[in-house]
Amino acid sequence: MLEAEGGRGRLVRGDNRRALAELSYDLTERVTLAYLDPPFLTGRAHEAIVKTGTRARDRPGPLKAREKKFAFDDRWSSRAEYLESIGQRLVLIKELLAPHGSVVVHVDPKTSHYVKVLGDEIFGEDCFASEIIWRYRRWPSKTPNFQRVHDVLLRWRKDAKTKPRFNVPYEPLAASTLATWGTNKQRAVFEKDGRRARSSTTEEATKGVPMGDVWEIGVIAPVSRERTGYPSQKPEALLERLILALSDEGEIVLDPYAGSGTTLAVAARLGRTFVGIDQSEVALGIATARLEAAGVRFSAARATSGPTNGAPKASIARSA
Ligand SMILES: C[S@@+](CC[C@H](N)C(=O)[O-])C[C@H]1O[C@@H](n2cnc3c(N)ncnc32)[C@H](O)[C@@H]1O
Repeated sequence: MLEAEGGRGRLVRGDNRRALAELSYDLTERVTLAYLDPPFLTGRAHEAIVKTGTRARDRPGPLKAREKKFAFDDRWSSRAEYLESIGQRLVLIKELLAPHGSVVVHVDPKTSHYVKVLGDEIFGEDCFASEIIWRYRRWPSKTPNFQRVHDVLLRWRKDAKTKPRFNVPYEPLAASTLATWGTNKQRAVFEKDGRRARSSTTEEATKGVPMGDVWEIGVIAPVSRERTGYPSQKPEALLERLILALSDEGEIVLDPYAGSGTTLAVAARLGRTFVGIDQSEVALGIATARLEAAGVRFSAARATSGPTNGAPKASIARSA
């Protein structure tokens, strides 16, 4: 395990089922947001394209040499095995979530309906909070079908009876609303019989409308500085929106499928305490470098096993 100085977070290398069980020693009911971006049941192994750091002088093409490295395996004997694996992690994560916390599982339309049923079984239907559609634009593929241009993010709250952490995000007003009402806040007006009348405007500037559950956010461009070469890397803008809405500064954000460390880097930048787990050496190498570039300093590595004498091993400070 790598521990960040100043209690800013930690990175654990290994299978997340074991690591999540071990984190229960000191993180039970302390995590405000858990974001899971597991492999998507693609049936193949995925490679990262990493810079080796040396110039490829002898060859034309890019100045920096790049090589492909095995990143992670996404081959399963069956869908049932895949779902069982996700379910085992969700059960452990439920224990780590604070009563006001929530979990977001990022999947694609091939599996989202199965994962929705699984999550409802584990958290309870009344804890299901939202299905967010992340809509993106990408190069069209040749297919006798509508282009697949969205992922699905399923969110459950830990406890339906506790007010969840939710900082309302806003999105811009529709062009037609702006044309009719301008940029001032509208006030809903009701007739005596309770029917809606024409709204009026106030002096106050509008923040926009409370964010809906369909998000249009661009994928990472091939030439973007954000791109790490890790397969399935998610855009920082997506994680920023989730983290700002679903956690406060100083709270703990967990990503047990950390990959290139997108969640962790954004969480650190936004003053949250990050906890990342991944079993891929390549992933953790990229995530560590990314966090260090964002100003996080790591102290010496240490073993990941749980406490031996009842004392918690990890040291994320408890808030007063
Ligand atoms: C889709 S990628 C995550 C990408 C990440 N969100 C990003 O933006 O870079 C899934 C990651 O889960 C990791 N993973 C898969 N199964 C795991 C397991 N059982 N334990 C720990 N990590 C696992 C893989 O190594 C891979 O890095």
